[in-house]
Amino acid sequence: MEKKIETKKIIFSGIQPSGNLNIGNYIGAISQWVNMQEKYNCIFSVVDYHAITVKQNPEELRRHILEITKIYLAAGIDPEKSIIFQQSAIPAHTELAWVLNCYGARIADLNKMTQFKDKSGKNQESASVGLYDYPVLMAADILLYNTEIVPVGEDQKQHVELARDIAKRFNNEYGDIFVIPQAVIRKDGARIMSLLDASKKMSKSDSNQNNCIALLDDIEVARKKIMRAVTDSGTDIEYDMENKPALSNLLTIYAILGNREIPRLVKDYRGKGYGDFKKDLADVVVKFLTNFQDKYNKISDADAQKVLEAGKKRAEAIAAKKLTEVRQAIGIG
Ligand code: TYM
Repeated sequence: MEKKIETKKIIFSGIQPSGNLNIGNYIGAISQWVNMQEKYNCIFSVVDYHAITVKQNPEELRRHILEITKIYLAAGIDPEKSIIFQQSAIPAHTELAWVLNCYGARIADLNKMTQFKDKSGKNQESASVGLYDYPVLMAADILLYNTEIVPVGEDQKQHVELARDIAKRFNNEYGDIFVIPQAVIRKDGARIMSLLDASKKMSKSDSNQNNCIALLDDIEVARKKIMRAVTDSGTDIEYDMENKPALSNLLTIYAILGNREIPRLVKDYRGKGYGDFKKDLADVVVKFLTNFQDKYNKISDADAQKVLEAGKKRAEAIAAKKLTEVRQAIGIG
C-alpha cells in the first residue's frame, strides 16, 4: 500500500530562557501551543542564543534551559507528538541567520524594531550587536523548518512580519526556498500587562517581580501579588481597555486561567467590589498554579535532558536539509 503523504502544517515557536516564565508567557504562547498539537506538526524551541543577547549568569542560564523544558512538558506539550529542542544544539540556526544577515535582512528593517528600541533604551550605542540582530536569528529559527504558523504573543508580531519579508526577498532572488510564515495571536490574552502598571507588558525580565506572576512562584507569594495588583478608579467590575486597563487585564487573566467568559464574569460581579473580585481571582490563580506545579514537580532534570536530546535529533535532520538547499541556492554548497 502506498504510504500516506504527511500534509499537516508546521508550527514553530520558542521562548527565551532569560528569566522566570510567567503567566503572560503561558497565556500568550504556551496555552495556544498545547491545543495545536493534534492538528499540526509542532516544533518548540528553548531559544538560548536569543537569551544571550543580554548578559546572563551561566549557572542561571543552564538552570533556566531545563526549567523551560520542564514547563513545556508540565503545560502539556507531548514530546511524542511535538519536537522540543534547545536552539544552540543545532548550528544550522546561527548559520542560516548569517546567510539571512547578508541576503534578506536590511538595516532599515532592523531600525524599525520596537523591541530593540525598548530593550536598548537610551543606551542604543552600547547595546550588543546580537540584541540588534536578534530578529534575524528568529527569522532563521522559523524559516529552517518550513513553518507556516508561528503562535506568539502580540509583542512578537513585528518580528514574524520581518521573517516574512526576509523570506519573500530571498525567494525572489533564489527561487522558492522558504515557506512564508504567519503569526497566530490569541484574541484575548495576546498581551498580558504588568500587575502594578497596566501600561507595561508583564515581562520575565522585569527587575520588579511583583509585576508578574511566575509559573513557579510560591503559591502564597502569588496570592499576595494579586491582592496588591493595581486597579482603576471607580468601583464597578467592567471590561474596558480604554478606561479600565488594569481591571480589564485582571479580567482577562481570570477568564483564561479560570476557564470562564469575560462577559459572564462581568455579569457575575455586578454589584460586587474590587476586593471580592481580587480575592476570587487570587483563588483562581492559586488553583491554576498548584495544579501546574504539581505536574512540574514530577518531572526531573534528567527527563528534560532526554527530551532535549531526542528533540535535537529530530529537529536537526529537518534543519540540515533546508540549510543545504540554501547553501546550494547561493553558491556555497
Ligand atoms: P519571549 O521569550 O520574550 O516570550 C515568549 C512568548 O511569550 C509571549 N509573551 C507574552 N504574551 C502575552 N502577554 C505577555 N505579557 C507576554 N510576554 C511574552 C511572547 O510573545 C512569546 O510568544 N523572540 C521570542 C522567542 C523566539 C521565537 C522564535 C518565537 C525566538 N525565535 C521563533 C517564535 C518563533 C521571544 O523573545 O519571546
